[in-house]
Amino acid sequence: MCGIIGYTGNENAVPYLLKGLGSLEYRGYDSCGISVFQKGKIKTLKCSGRIQTLSEKLCKNNLSSETGIGHTRWATHGKPNSRNAHPHESQSGLFSVVHNGIIENHASLKEKLVKDGFVFKSETDTEVIAQLLEQNYSGSALSSLSKTVSQLEGSFSLGIICREEEGKIFCVRKQSPLVAAKAESGSFVASDITALLPFSKDIFFFNDDELAVIEKEKISFFDLSGNEIKKTAETIDFSASHQEKEGHEFFMHKEIMQQPHVIKETINAYFKNGRISFENINLNKNELQKTSRIYLVACGSAYHVALSGKYLIEEMAKIPCEADIASEFRYRNPPLNTNTLVIIISQSGETADSLAALRLAKNQGAKTLSVVNVPLSTIAQESDSVIFTHAGPEIAVATTKAYSCQLAVIYLLAAYISSCLFLLSEEEEKDYVSKLSSLDEKIKQALETEPLAKKLSEILGKSKNIFFIGRNTDYPVAMEGSLKLKEISYLQSEAYGAGELKHGTISLIEKGSVVIALCCRKSVFKKMLSNIREVKARGAFVVALVSENQKELAEGADFIISLPETENRFSPSIEIIPLQLLGYHTAKIKGCDIDKPRNLAKSVTVE
Ligand code: F6R
Repeated sequence: MCGIIGYTGNENAVPYLLKGLGSLEYRGYDSCGISVFQKGKIKTLKCSGRIQTLSEKLCKNNLSSETGIGHTRWATHGKPNSRNAHPHESQSGLFSVVHNGIIENHASLKEKLVKDGFVFKSETDTEVIAQLLEQNYSGSALSSLSKTVSQLEGSFSLGIICREEEGKIFCVRKQSPLVAAKAESGSFVASDITALLPFSKDIFFFNDDELAVIEKEKISFFDLSGNEIKKTAETIDFSASHQEKEGHEFFMHKEIMQQPHVIKETINAYFKNGRISFENINLNKNELQKTSRIYLVACGSAYHVALSGKYLIEEMAKIPCEADIASEFRYRNPPLNTNTLVIIISQSGETADSLAALRLAKNQGAKTLSVVNVPLSTIAQESDSVIFTHAGPEIAVATTKAYSCQLAVIYLLAAYISSCLFLLSEEEEKDYVSKLSSLDEKIKQALETEPLAKKLSEILGKSKNIFFIGRNTDYPVAMEGSLKLKEISYLQSEAYGAGELKHGTISLIEKGSVVIALCCRKSVFKKMLSNIREVKARGAFVVALVSENQKELAEGADFIISLPETENRFSPSIEIIPLQLLGYHTAKIKGCDIDKPRNLAKSVTVE
C-alpha cells in the first residue's frame, strides 16, 4: 500500500525518483508526486493517475535537484485526486512528507492543530504529520521527527525533507516497511528492495521505531531517543531482471509461464536424498509431536492456500487444523497455547493483518512458522521459523506463481509433519516425493491449455453470472479461480463447495449462467458429475476441468478442459493453471489493465 522513494546524491534526483516510483507502482497507483529542493525552497509536483502522467508533468517543468522524495498512493483517507496525493507540505513549506500506513489518531491531532491555527489543504491523515513536524521544529529536523513520532498512533513509514536541511532525507519506520541503500551516485530510501536493486544490492533494513538520516555520503540510524545505532548493509542476491516483461505483454502472463520453473526450485530446495528436509528450519520433531492444533492464517489468495493446507494436513497428519482470514483471526480471540502451531502464509511478508496475526500468536505463546516469498521481510524476520517459497519477485498485482509455490510448500509440509508423527513411512514418503518431483512437468502440460482458456474467455466475457464449484482441495481452487477472474476482469463470480449450491445459490442458476466445475480429484469425481447434472438441468453452460483419462466420463459438460493426470492431493496445482489463464484472457478481451487492476495494490500494509 503506497510506495515511498527518496534519493540524495551527486546527480539529478528526478530520474531516480521516477524510476523508483515505476518499480513501486504495484504498491498503489491512484496518484503520485515528488518533492525536491529548488533555490532554497521545497518544490512539490503531484497528480492523480499513474507515474507516466507525473513524468510528463515533470518533463514540462524541467526540474533538477540533488535531493528529493516521491510517492505512489493507494488511497485510504480521501479521494485519489492531486490534492490528496503525496508529498504533503507543512503550512509554511518547512517540511514535505511521504507516508505509507495509517495514522489512527489523525482526527484528534488535526482538531488540535486547527485550534493552534494550522490550515489543512487535504483530507489525508498524512498532512497531520507534516504540520506536527513544523509545530515541533526548533532547529533540528531529527528532534522534531522524534517528538512527532511520539504523538502518532498507527502504522507508518515516512520519508521527509526539511527546507532548512537541504541534502538530507529523514525517515522512520513503525509497522510499515522501509529499506535504505548506499550506491556510488548517492543514497536511497524506499518501501521495498525492488525499487533499490537497480541501484545497489547492499541494503540496510529498518527495525520498528528506528529513525534514519539519509545523506549522499552516509546513512545514519537512531533510536527514538536520538542514540545512534550502528548497522551494516546486507547484500541481496536478487537480479533486477524481474523488472522486464521479457517479451510478454503483461507481467502476469510472464509469471504464469514461469510456474514450472519456480515450483521446481521451491520443491528442490527442500528435498534431500529422496526425502523432505527442513533441516535449516527451526521446527523440530519433538515440538511437532506435541502440537495439538494448527492454524493456517493468511489473506486473499494466500488464504486459499491456507484452506488447501487445512484439508491436506488434517488428512495426512491427523492434527486438527483451521484456516483463518488474518483480519478475522486477530479479533476473534482464538484459543492459543504452547501446543498450538500458527502458520502464516504471505508472498510479500508485509501484509499488515497477517503480521498482526503473527504477533498475536507469538504473544500468546504459540509456535509460529511462516511461508514467505520475500527474504528479510517483516513476517519472515519475526516468525520462529520460515519456509521460503522460491517464486522470485512477483510484479503483477494478481498473484500466480507465488500462490503456486505456496501450494508446493503445503504439499511438502503436510508430508513432513505426517512423517514426523510416524503416519507416513519412509517408503511412502519417497513415493510422494517422486510424484511431487514431476509436478513441474505436469504444470508445463497444463499450460498448453492456453488456447482453450482463450476460447472460453470469449464466452465468459459476455456472461453476467459465473460460478466456480469444487469439492475437497478443489474447493479452495474454485475460490482462487473465481478471485483471479474477478480481480482482473471485474466480472462478478462466486465460488462454492459443489455440494452447497443446492442449499440456496442454485436459485440463481438459469439459462446463460456459466458453471466452471473442477473435477480432477478422483475421490469426489462422481459427486461432481451429479452436481454438473443439477446445474445443467437448470440451464447452465457447464465447463468441466477433468483429468485426461476421465474426460469421456464428464458427460453433460458443454466445454471440457482436459488436464494431465496427477496424484489427487496435487490437483490444485494443475487445475489453477487454466483458471489463471482464463482470468488473464478474459481481462485482456475486456481491455483491462491486467498488471494493475483498479482499486488494488500488491502489498497490503494497512489493516
Ligand atoms: C490476489 C492477491 C492477494 C494476496 C493477499 C495477500 O491475487 O494477490 O489476495 O494474496 O493480499 O498478500 P500476501 O501474500 O503478500 O500476504
